[in-house]
Amino acid sequence: MAAAVHNEWGISELKANSSEKDTRKTYDTWAKTYEEDTDKLGYKGHVLCIEAFNKAMQSKDIFPEANKDIKILDAGAGTGIIGEMLVQQGYSNIDALDISEEMLNLAKKKNIYKRYICAALSDVPIDDIQTGEYDVTLCAGTIVYGQAKPAALDECVRHVRPGKVLLLYLLWSRAAVFHSHIKLLLLRFLTITNCITLSLEKELYVLKKVLHPKMFKDYTGPNNHLSPDSLSTPFIIFHCLSPGGIFIFSIRADSFDPVELGYSTKFEEMETAGKWRLVKRERRELYAHPHEERFRDCYLITYKVLKN
Ligand SMILES: C[S@@+](CC[C@H](N)C(=O)[O-])C[C@H]1O[C@@H](n2cnc3c(N)ncnc32)[C@H](O)[C@@H]1O
Repeated sequence: MAAAVHNEWGISELKANSSEKDTRKTYDTWAKTYEEDTDKLGYKGHVLCIEAFNKAMQSKDIFPEANKDIKILDAGAGTGIIGEMLVQQGYSNIDALDISEEMLNLAKKKNIYKRYICAALSDVPIDDIQTGEYDVTLCAGTIVYGQAKPAALDECVRHVRPGKVLLLYLLWSRAAVFHSHIKLLLLRFLTITNCITLSLEKELYVLKKVLHPKMFKDYTGPNNHLSPDSLSTPFIIFHCLSPGGIFIFSIRADSFDPVELGYSTKFEEMETAGKWRLVKRERRELYAHPHEERFRDCYLITYKVLKN
C-alpha cells in the first residue's frame, strides 16, 4: 500500500501506486466534506465536462441524435454534481457509477440517478453494465493516477454505443459529376476528424494521407475489395462515421503529461486500434485555487467511440 500523504483536511492523497482499496477508503472518508472542500479549491471538473457535453449535443457532426432521453453514465459520479447539472438541463436517463459507497450514498439523497452502481473502473468488466449500453459517458476527475488506471479505459469504452464506419468509394472518372456532393462529404469527414479544412484538391491529398492502411483491415464494408494499394488507383474513398456514442472526461495534466504514467500512450494505442476517434482535446484550468500548483490544469477530452 502507498504511504499515506494527507492533504489539508487530513484526507490521504492518492499516488500512482495506490490500490483500489486505498481509493475507496480515501473517498469513503472524504465523502461528507467533499463538496465543501473541492468548492474551496475552485474545482471545475464537473463544469468542464458539462461544457464539453453541451458542445457535443449542439453539434450534428459529433452527436447527431441529441435528445433529452439519451442514456448517460456518470462514471466516478461521486456525490452526484454532474447528475444534478444534467437534470437541471432536462436529462433524466442517467446512471451513477462509483467505487465509493459513501460518495454514492450522498448522491442517492439527491434522487437524480436511475441506477447506482458501486464498482471500480478497472481492467475487469463490470457485470452490471452491458456492452454499448450508454449513448454518452461523462467522467470528471476519475481518470487520474491513484484512481482509474490506463487499463480501465477499455472498460470505459465498452460501456458506450459504438459508431459505425461507412466506406464509400467512387470511380475517379465519375467523381467530377459529384463534385459539390463530394466536397460536402469531405467537409463532414474533416470536421469529425478534427482536421483543418483545405481546398478540395488539398482535401483529396489529405484524405489519402489520413486514411491509414490499417483502417482498411478494420473497416471493410460488404462490397469492399480495396486493398491499401488502391489509394494510388483512380478511386476516391470516403470514410464517414455514422452516429455513435461519445466519451467525455477530464484528466489532470500531471497524469496525462508524464508518458511513464501510461495514460497518453494508452489513448494513442486505442486510437490506432480503431476503438475511438479524438473529437477534441484542450488544456483547461481544473482548480482555480489548487493547494499545489501541479494540480491546476487538466485536459478536457471528447472521444467518439468506434469499437468495443
Ligand atoms: C474527484 S472525484 C469526482 C467526482 C465527480 N465526478 C465530480 O466531478 O464532482 C472522483 C470520484 O471518482 C471515484 N473513483 C475513483 N477511482 C475510481 C475507480 N477506479 N472506479 C470508479 N470510481 C472511482 C471516487 O470515489 C470519486 O467519487
